[in-house]
Amino acid sequence: MRRGSLLDISGLRVIFHTYRGTIKALNGVELWLNEEERLGVVGETGCGKSVTALSVMRLIEQPGEITEGSIWFNDKDLLKISEEEMDRIRGKHISMIFQEPIAALNPVFKVGFQVAEAIAHSQGVTIKDAYPQVREALEMVGLDWQRTIDLYAHELSGGMAQRVMIAMALAVKPKLLIADEPTSALDVTIQAQILELLDKLVTVSQSAVVLITHDLGIASEFCDRVAVMYAGNVVEIATSEEIFSQPLHPYTKGLIDSIPVVGRSKELVGIPGVVPDLVDPPSGCRFHPRCKKVFDKCHAELPSLSQVKPNHYVACHLYQ
Ligand SMILES: Nc1ncnc2c1ncn2[C@@H]1O[C@H](COP(=O)(O)OP(=O)(O)O)[C@@H](O)[C@H]1O
Ligand SMILES: [Mg+2]
Repeated sequence: MRRGSLLDISGLRVIFHTYRGTIKALNGVELWLNEEERLGVVGETGCGKSVTALSVMRLIEQPGEITEGSIWFNDKDLLKISEEEMDRIRGKHISMIFQEPIAALNPVFKVGFQVAEAIAHSQGVTIKDAYPQVREALEMVGLDWQRTIDLYAHELSGGMAQRVMIAMALAVKPKLLIADEPTSALDVTIQAQILELLDKLVTVSQSAVVLITHDLGIASEFCDRVAVMYAGNVVEIATSEEIFSQPLHPYTKGLIDSIPVVGRSKELVGIPGVVPDLVDPPSGCRFHPRCKKVFDKCHAELPSLSQVKPNHYVACHLYQ
């Protein structure tokens, strides 16, 4: 059954072959999204947020491998289409921005050329024909276009580089924008400016957004719904209000308890322990070794993501 009209990821498994053994990075990810909807994806480092995003872009490369699952985008399973078709979808319908914007730009071409190339690719026109649109694209993200077009990536500040990436990603008016920790590498003041800019621009371009962040506060402020990932699974999905007011999964509760609140004297609780080594992950629910509510079944069986209330899904034996 289709859950999201734009994107529906089901049973997604990804492994990485390494000298230490096989990393079971994604363990059956479930995630879905409607047109123009914004979904936050949160979780500690190593939980599989980036691998999920790269799977949607079909950019998982050796030693990685998608072994199972489906990724429906509109009326196509992205895991079943040809590389040519996927390339068209990448430039035109799905764009992605990354945590390290300077590294994501090509170091040997000037900014103007790279923006023109992105526009040319999406419209199927020549780079020369795309150039007139570069000015508008750079002005849209608040950059002085004349000063910016002749610069190279290393001449940009982090904030400027992320603005260029956003210009390239949104010039094509994608149906879906995936932003993987777009502000994590930036100063706090610049972070707020970039998020405000993204907010404005995706509203104009009517793009749906998957915003990956380890900051639950940013996710719930920017997004309609929030998905919480732990060790290769989505363990809870709820609306941004409900994830804070009525979290169900012990991991989500732990994440919320780890957020410092100004003026709150209560000591930060946090979640004891660390994300497990995914070469040899825990049996059953991968969170069970860190869970305060653990019982027998948690060792034996992986809980499935089930709806427990309207628009509220959780993968935990406490609720099944
Ligand atoms: N290229 C790679 N080679 C080996 N392991 C990888 C690679 N990319 C990701 N992984 C592993 O996949 C898991 C999920 O990683 P990732 O999606 O990057 O986490 P997150 O983005 O949530 O911090 C981690 O255990 C990570 O070590
Ligand atoms: Mg990541």
